[in-house]
Amino acid sequence: MLHRFDTLVIGSGLAGLSAAIEASRHGSVAVIAKLYPTRCHSSAAQGGIAAALGNEDPDSPEWHVYDTIKGSDYLADQDAVRTMCEAAVKTVIGLEHMGVPFSRTPGGKIAQRRFGGHTKEFGAAPVRRACYCADRTGLAIVTTLYEQSQRRGIKFFPEFHVLDIMMEGDRCLGAAAMEIRTGEICAFSACATILATGGYGRVFRTTSNAIQSTGDLPGILLEKGLPLEDMEFFQFHPTGLYGLGILVTEGARGEGGVLVNGKGERFMERYAPHIKDLAPRDMVSRAITTEIREGRGVGERDFVYLDLRAIPEKTLSERLPEIMNFCRIYMGVDPSVAPIPVVPTAHYAMGGIPTDQGGRVMKNEAGETTLGLFAAGECACVSVHGANRLGCNSLLDTVVFGRRAGEAAGKMKDIFMVEAAAESEEVLGPAKNTVSEILRRRGDEKTGAVRKDLQELMMGRCSVFRNEAGLKAALEGIKELKERAKHIAITDRGKRFNTEVLEAIELGRLIDLAEVIVSSAVQRKESRGAHSREDYPERDDKNWLKHTFAFKKAGAFKTEGNIEFSYRPVSIAGFPLRKREY
Ligand code: FUM
Repeated sequence: MLHRFDTLVIGSGLAGLSAAIEASRHGSVAVIAKLYPTRCHSSAAQGGIAAALGNEDPDSPEWHVYDTIKGSDYLADQDAVRTMCEAAVKTVIGLEHMGVPFSRTPGGKIAQRRFGGHTKEFGAAPVRRACYCADRTGLAIVTTLYEQSQRRGIKFFPEFHVLDIMMEGDRCLGAAAMEIRTGEICAFSACATILATGGYGRVFRTTSNAIQSTGDLPGILLEKGLPLEDMEFFQFHPTGLYGLGILVTEGARGEGGVLVNGKGERFMERYAPHIKDLAPRDMVSRAITTEIREGRGVGERDFVYLDLRAIPEKTLSERLPEIMNFCRIYMGVDPSVAPIPVVPTAHYAMGGIPTDQGGRVMKNEAGETTLGLFAAGECACVSVHGANRLGCNSLLDTVVFGRRAGEAAGKMKDIFMVEAAAESEEVLGPAKNTVSEILRRRGDEKTGAVRKDLQELMMGRCSVFRNEAGLKAALEGIKELKERAKHIAITDRGKRFNTEVLEAIELGRLIDLAEVIVSSAVQRKESRGAHSREDYPERDDKNWLKHTFAFKKAGAFKTEGNIEFSYRPVSIAGFPLRKREY
């Protein structure tokens, strides 16, 4: 089947929907997604979207800019941060006008709560900046934007799995995707293609990310010789449910919850004496991991407690109903009477597909862009989060930069036309080959087993703390996993709903991304934000105040040297580098 639209959006989360709505002002738009749109991973976002509305405390976009840059450990591009934070107020009001049911203050304004690293007066004290819909903020915004997309005649193709991006030289012509229901591979031609496929947290064992977060599109671009930026920076959210990784929103600490170790101590007082439990995530995750490593986990085990018992029951049920249910259902814990066992959980990729502020995909560190190809949201790196993202800035990023990508992409049809693809081997051949190569594999390996070993390896060697020996061992392990993946046996040889084939393809992408993450972590010989090297514990601005661009080298896999690196300077625009204290 052949389709043609002016703009093609891949991914139906908040970045994808925001981009699609904006692009629809200019022409026809299609959205392809692996799942049904409202099951996108943005729906799992709990705590809020940041904007200096000043509804509950005095606030200013300038303080938001400062917090975001400091939170990023000074790796974020300061001009992009300013764009995002200055657009935040208008963005949230715009969402409200579209129908997002934000929680309210008694006076009827959008309610706001505290979140890690968000402060007033340049770090003086925590500020209420997170606008929220109880603890279902992502779902509320996704549902509203999906309704708005329906109004605007945007065409959805749910359960289509993208296998290839169609390129002609430096120009993107659309994508090839499998309709999961039939197994048919279809071409989607478009003047502009926007990638908005979210993160790849499934590379780790303990993660808050959904099953579908497998980094398919960053993996495809890497294969095509395009770079990925700052892949060494992967955020661990401090509070995942122990043993499961399911998120317990930072909003719980924003409402007054505290972290407690096995000795009953509020240990964050030692690590961030000023803002304590509301320190940025990289610091809190390191603190929890240190407590556990040094034998101060609860019962000397590998978790700590998140204690919400000081929060009034009415607040818990009105503002945190979802996590109350999660704790009761999955842990058998009622947070109003008992503390919650938590551990850091892999949550967010700061790195991804490098873009400019209009979402145009960069093809190199000089900032040259690829015609017709855009990216936004977690799969992209613009870079507003640098080495560590502040909570609530990701929903903001998705909407602000999703819209900017949609606006720039929508205008592409005035710049060049793309005809509908012909059903030729040249167009669909690479996608078909991806599937037939998997079906040809023979052996006794299972996708699930190889994936589990990959996730264990990444968790053990490349998570909150890292060191040279562990990272090099991880690369050895990845080499073996690549070999094992070649011997995965596919038992289902049919076409309809062949999720076995698709999972094997996803596994290949995860392994490739793991290799880039680890290789990027090996080469960055400093500690900054979420990248904490035990063998290089200090931030090194002299040598490492720069973005990493990683390219895949062609050729056989070696333990080292499969990835090539180049660097792009960080944009500094008004905020000089300081020591990061909280
Ligand atoms: O803790 C949370 O609710 C997560 C928010 C975020 O990642 O922005």
